[in-house]
Amino acid sequence: MSATISKNIGQAATLLRDNEVVAIPTETVYGLAANALNADAVVKIFSIKNRPHFDPLIVHISSIEKVKDLVIDFPENAQILAKKFWPGPLTLVLKKKDIIPDIVTSGLDTVGIRMPDHTITNELLHSLDFPLAAPSANPFGYISPTSAEHVLKQLGEKIPMILDGGNCQIGLESTIVDCTKDIPVILRLGGITEEQITACIGEVEVMTTSTSNPQAPGMMISHYSPHKKIVVGVIKNLLSKHSGKKLAILSFEDEYSHYRNYILSEKADLSEAAKNLFAALRELDTSDAEIILAEWVPNVGVGKAINDKLRRASS
Ligand code: TXA
Ligand code: MG
Repeated sequence: MSATISKNIGQAATLLRDNEVVAIPTETVYGLAANALNADAVVKIFSIKNRPHFDPLIVHISSIEKVKDLVIDFPENAQILAKKFWPGPLTLVLKKKDIIPDIVTSGLDTVGIRMPDHTITNELLHSLDFPLAAPSANPFGYISPTSAEHVLKQLGEKIPMILDGGNCQIGLESTIVDCTKDIPVILRLGGITEEQITACIGEVEVMTTSTSNPQAPGMMISHYSPHKKIVVGVIKNLLSKHSGKKLAILSFEDEYSHYRNYILSEKADLSEAAKNLFAALRELDTSDAEIILAEWVPNVGVGKAINDKLRRASS
């Protein structure tokens, strides 16, 4: 099998109704989607990705009204966040109903739900009478895909279709907020910043660095990893430390013209840097460099999420 890349929403819908797995575009990263209410369909996602079964999936819906079909409690904090940020890069963790098979949530009594902000995928979701479970469409542990071509290269042999929605506009996964606690907890930093969330609902806890935190099984410290060694720090220092090696440089705004260099944003714009990050890591990972040297970006706003990905990529 080799996946067709196509914009045909009807074809994607037909495959999904047949319990097949289809890659779908979202504003964050491409997802590997299947009927979230059908365990036989969802199990295929885990085997295609080589994903451990303890790592739960996010369920994608097409409107806020659908939340109540899936959860037993939709607390006020969560409703405020959904109204403010959906459709968009925010996943809410809520107490699940039994209608969601255990395989989706790795046996947890909670489920991560989000409404993506992508015309094609929203149209697809509207045409289906079930929500879509979808993790990022990359082999487990590798860099998330932000274009249909990224998906094709890594999973093209294992799925029938990639619904083409162009390049992802945000480029980082959704921010995950556990709303089952009195004080909501940010489990993963992503497209929505901590500041945006606290501006909406006040105090939150941030718990994204744990290595073995059962609340966020997917937050393993080593993640988003290129195959090549990547080190993060101050480029000038890294250059002298690793001299003599074949080097590639992932910089924020500065140019290093004597090296294979990917600049995340020449105008030093963090959103642009976020959008380019995963494509940059992939490109440098397939270069002939022995080591990728990367620098931290300013640790504000979405920069915190970028630095979090860099830290995990280098672990
Ligand atoms: O932007 C995104 O969120 C993308 C697109 C495709 O929507 N999806 C995505 O999925 O990044 P994935 O599988 O790569 O990451 C999902 C993570 C899990 O690894 C886990 O950390 C967290 O979401 N998660 C899912 N359900 C959870 C739950 N019930 N409790 C805690 N964490 C959960
Ligand atoms: Mg992922």
